[in-house]
Amino acid sequence: MKNLILTGFMGAGKTSVGKACAQAFGMCFSDTDQMIETQEGRAISEIFSTQGEEAFRRMETALLKRLINAPRPAPAACPSLADSSGGLVLSVGGGLPVRPENRRLLKQLGQVIWLKVSTETVLNRLKGDTTRPLLQGADVRARVDALLSQRNALYEEAAHAVICVDGKTVGEIVDEIRRLLKKPEPIAIRAAAPDDAGELLEIYAPYVTKTAITFEYEIPALEEFRGRIADTLKKYPYLVAEHEGRLIGYAYTHPFVGRAAYDRAVETSIYVREDQRKTGVGKKLYTALEAVSKAQNILNMNACIGYPETEDPYLTKNSVQFHAHMGYRMVGKFYKCGYKFGTWYNMVWMEKIIGRHTPDPAPVIPFPDLKPDEIANVRL
Ligand code: S3P
Repeated sequence: MKNLILTGFMGAGKTSVGKACAQAFGMCFSDTDQMIETQEGRAISEIFSTQGEEAFRRMETALLKRLINAPRPAPAACPSLADSSGGLVLSVGGGLPVRPENRRLLKQLGQVIWLKVSTETVLNRLKGDTTRPLLQGADVRARVDALLSQRNALYEEAAHAVICVDGKTVGEIVDEIRRLLKKPEPIAIRAAAPDDAGELLEIYAPYVTKTAITFEYEIPALEEFRGRIADTLKKYPYLVAEHEGRLIGYAYTHPFVGRAAYDRAVETSIYVREDQRKTGVGKKLYTALEAVSKAQNILNMNACIGYPETEDPYLTKNSVQFHAHMGYRMVGKFYKCGYKFGTWYNMVWMEKIIGRHTPDPAPVIPFPDLKPDEIANVRL
């Protein structure tokens, strides 16, 4: 079952958790309340006051039926239709599972998780809320207590699993859902530490011995490799991708030529563990590397890539294709400038301009001097 359905009382956090799940698992997000408001062209409180609660409940049931019949999530729910193959995260109105028919439909629609919440948390979160018609007026606590004691058994019946959300952050709840759904751990990007050298060298070594992707002939010694990482980190980002406890790739920048006038240009390098290609890790690393470089005031990212006349077991055109996909454009080709495994290889330069070339460019900020908020989107 591809869809994930989040149920629970008002204030349980279905929308925030649902949006975070959609992002974390590459799914689309929708909310039944929002869909009904859009369809009716008015707020839920207005629907309740003009047409009554029963009419709203009928709209909920009709919507569930439509969703079940839809071959895939509505385009409006997805950033792009291409993303919709991952399924839909649907947050449903707190009263929707009260109808027996809806409970059956929910289970048909996907994996239902009930976000269980206490009266205390509801009252804390919804203090001053004016959008929920059922919680207006005096003695809200008594109303929440009464509704929860009526509904909790129904939520339980409608769900495949339950998560108690009191005192938990959105991230913690998403992690619990990830475990329940057996979704893979996310790939984390962080700055390398010199002690990563052994594992990173393990990733790099096959590129030296079995490919012409690097023009290096000998696997560097561990200490030498550790020194390269430490040297790079004095001014440039050296990022690693970590997944389920092991490093699966790394990317870094280093000086382009090295003369002062080239300061705002860098050369990029990326290596992905042999069995982890095509997992999206390369894109993640390069996206992070670019974000950090932008924060450093770097303007040009240059990549020097081995490029065979015709593909052979040592060198394919994959890296050039990857860079083109990441927005790099071809600059020029050096003919037969590298000799490895008895073959002369061409090399190409590709570039990506990531900032504006103004008459008075800002100085480059060394990587260790970047403030955490300047690289917040990179989650180092
Ligand atoms: C309701 C919950 C609301 C909304 C409507 C009725 C309920 O949704 O559907 O106000 O009966 O519990 P949220 O749970 O998303 O607040």
